[in-house]
Amino acid sequence: MTDLTTFAHGLPKAELHLHLEGTLEPELKFALAARNGVELAQKTVEEVRATYDFTDLTSFLAVYYPAMDVLRTAEDFHDLAWAYLQRAAAEGVVHTEMFFDPQAHTSRGVPFDDVVTGYHRAVVRAGRELGVSAELVLCFLRDMSAEHAMSTLMEALPYKRWIIGVGLDSDERGNPPSKFDAVFARARAEGFLLTAHCDIDQEGSIANIGHVVREIGVDRVDHGTNVVEDDALVELVAERGLGLTCCPVSNSFVTEQMKADEIVGLLSRGVRVTVNSDDPAYFGAYVGGNYVALAEQADLGAEDLVQLAVNSFEAAWLTPARRAAYIAQVHEYAAAAR
Ligand code: ADE
Ligand code: ZN
Repeated sequence: MTDLTTFAHGLPKAELHLHLEGTLEPELKFALAARNGVELAQKTVEEVRATYDFTDLTSFLAVYYPAMDVLRTAEDFHDLAWAYLQRAAAEGVVHTEMFFDPQAHTSRGVPFDDVVTGYHRAVVRAGRELGVSAELVLCFLRDMSAEHAMSTLMEALPYKRWIIGVGLDSDERGNPPSKFDAVFARARAEGFLLTAHCDIDQEGSIANIGHVVREIGVDRVDHGTNVVEDDALVELVAERGLGLTCCPVSNSFVTEQMKADEIVGLLSRGVRVTVNSDDPAYFGAYVGGNYVALAEQADLGAEDLVQLAVNSFEAAWLTPARRAAYIAQVHEYAAAAR
């Protein structure tokens, strides 16, 4: 596996399912707490990691949101995104479309402008210093009201040129995508691209996937692996070339398994499956690690990983010329490795 690990980490790829707030490593958390005078309950990295005891999405989110309290200033948001972008570059990421959760910060009194300005500075810096292209995707927290999502969308309008699309995340239980129909319609009218989480094994997963695909008309689905329950929907997703942003290591934390059979099965049925890291600081693997974990679990070879990397660019929100250039880069890399 060592050769395949090296191959997977060097493979040029796009990361399309990554929560910036999910990249907060304990070391940075301590540094930001010290800078902002925030008292933390845990005193060591080991103590922080000991709280990462997740059995499902809800128990993960219960650890995830309180940790964000150390993020206070534009500089903090810059530092968080910059740390991720450097790690991503080291794992072959050349393009990334990164989620952020403004409501998790504005609801604590942090101005929207500080969040987006800090993240945007890291985006610009990544282009200049790392040669990594990065975009921001604003996610609405689905366990907050549709009205709050709409007012967040209004707050985002002056920053439109810095935000490529909108998504939907947080706790799916009791919060189906239909709750946000009007918000998505307005976001579409404002020119944003659309995506939405359809988390793994949720109550109503298959109905929610059907809704985002058929009614909201998303441009991508985050997770969405439960689509396997409905053959007609699998065909529709394949026909439309909709990307599914799968996160195998994350799956193994919030459910009992990586869902490798489902992911690889969808790939072989022609669905545009991609592999991503979700919340790598919490789940212990960045995107290269997710390629390797899936390869080990499902016995994939280099050609499968190449297909996943190609899919990542096919599913990315790129111009046709840039997409073609990145895909050519993947094939050149694979040819050189043979
Ligand atoms: N927020 C961060 N990670 C998430 C996930 N995997 N699902 C829903 N909301 C999230
Ligand atoms: Zn996610």
